Amino acid sequence: MNLTELNRIATAMVAPGKGILAADESSGTIKKRFDAIGVESTEANRRDYREMLFRSKEAMSQYISGVILYDETIWQDAKDGTPLIRLIEESGALPGIKVDEGTQALPMCPGELVTVGLDKLAERLKKYYERGARFAKWRAVIDIGSGIPSMTAISVNAHALARYAALCQAAQIVPIVEPEVLMDGDHDIERCYEVTQRVLNKTFQELREQRVALEGMVLKPNMAISGKKCAKQASVEEVAEKTIRLLKACVPAAVPGIAFLSGGQSDEEATAHLNAMHKLGPLPWGLTFSYGRALQAAPQKAWSGKAENVAAGQRAFSHRARMNGLASKGEWQA
Ligand code: 13P
Repeated sequence: MNLTELNRIATAMVAPGKGILAADESSGTIKKRFDAIGVESTEANRRDYREMLFRSKEAMSQYISGVILYDETIWQDAKDGTPLIRLIEESGALPGIKVDEGTQALPMCPGELVTVGLDKLAERLKKYYERGARFAKWRAVIDIGSGIPSMTAISVNAHALARYAALCQAAQIVPIVEPEVLMDGDHDIERCYEVTQRVLNKTFQELREQRVALEGMVLKPNMAISGKKCAKQASVEEVAEKTIRLLKACVPAAVPGIAFLSGGQSDEEATAHLNAMHKLGPLPWGLTFSYGRALQAAPQKAWSGKAENVAAGQRAFSHRARMNGLASKGEWQA
């Protein structure tokens, strides 16, 4: 393992003014997104859609540091035969790959999930590295509800995240460690804070025990935020203040960067929250976005599966990327 190189990549992923495009929707998830815009989820349509994003020159060259791909996409060619991964490299962004294989029910823990995909991961990472991937992603999912999460769910998911991260570093790939506490419930921001604190503490304990070099990873957390169905929604300032307090308490300064998931926040909320956090600096780590929905909802709508809308889709994507790029420096204005 070359830690200097891992650290260089991780630092580039969170460079000021730039962030990560999460375009790694599994076939099931992208189908849901396409259903919403009335587009059939065929391999060709998925290719055309992602090709549109990766050929968005303004967004890709100025505001996107890296792109997380799904397995299908990393092996796919653009319409003219250029591998899609080359389009990303040529734009100056780093290609990454989602390597978890989704979630399964966690035995003995009703309603809870564990992320799977460790079997043969070392071999898969080797192939992805040869193809050009320089970072990877693994997402653990923790739900908040009555009586959950259990410490069992937090523990097994943290253990798997650390196993994955160590395997990545051994393969010279920067791991994005993503323990996502869902914002779907009716819980308040205090409960989200408390659960996320337990999750992050356990995750870093496992990372240390499994000898993961913190200098060669990126953390992808949720923000401290009110559940979507909570009657009392915390303000932008409160989300920013509590999230920074939480991260300072839990994330060692050796970690080069933190890149948030959007998790179902609206496009503008996701931008406003990141921006507000940068007003609370200086911060010990790079702090930016790794958004899926909050970067793609607008271009998906503008595109709607029509070739004549490609330029409009690219404009919509570049706009959101620019807004989030500004937010990653605290320079965004509503
Ligand atoms: P969202 O920003 O839509 O939450 O997606 C980010 C991601 O990669 C989740 O794993």
